[in-house]
Amino acid sequence: MSNLFVADVGVERFNKDHQRLLFYVQEFNRLSDRFAEREAEEDEWDQLDSIFKRFDKYTQIHFKAEEELMRAYDYPQLEEHLKQHADLIDTLHRLREQIESRQAGRFTEVKAFLAKWLLEHINDHDVRYSAFFQEKGVD
Ligand SMILES: [Fe+2]
Ligand SMILES: [Fe+2]
Repeated sequence: MSNLFVADVGVERFNKDHQRLLFYVQEFNRLSDRFAEREAEEDEWDQLDSIFKRFDKYTQIHFKAEEELMRAYDYPQLEEHLKQHADLIDTLHRLREQIESRQAGRFTEVKAFLAKWLLEHINDHDVRYSAFFQEKGVD
């Protein structure tokens, strides 16, 4: 999973958000890779918590920003996109609870979710608004 990448979505501020989210994901993966062979120590759990919290918080800020822009321009696939965001937030919170209660096992589920979030949501769904916003002159 070292070759994660995010596609260009045509809106500069969202590309920046995506890069920042990708950074958190890479940090989480880098740290959690240590626990393939052993359990995490308490201070390491704290580090995982802290990265995950920042990822969670920034994801919510980012989703809100996308949704506001979509509403402002009457994006035709708004409902579908809102549903995707809501589902992702639900999963994110479930995983965050697992980490907070130190039950994330080997983190395979968390890592799979983070990769899916990036690869599928950004690269399949966010890219769909690219042409739309470009046509509206949003950069
Ligand atoms: Fe996005
Ligand atoms: Fe999105």
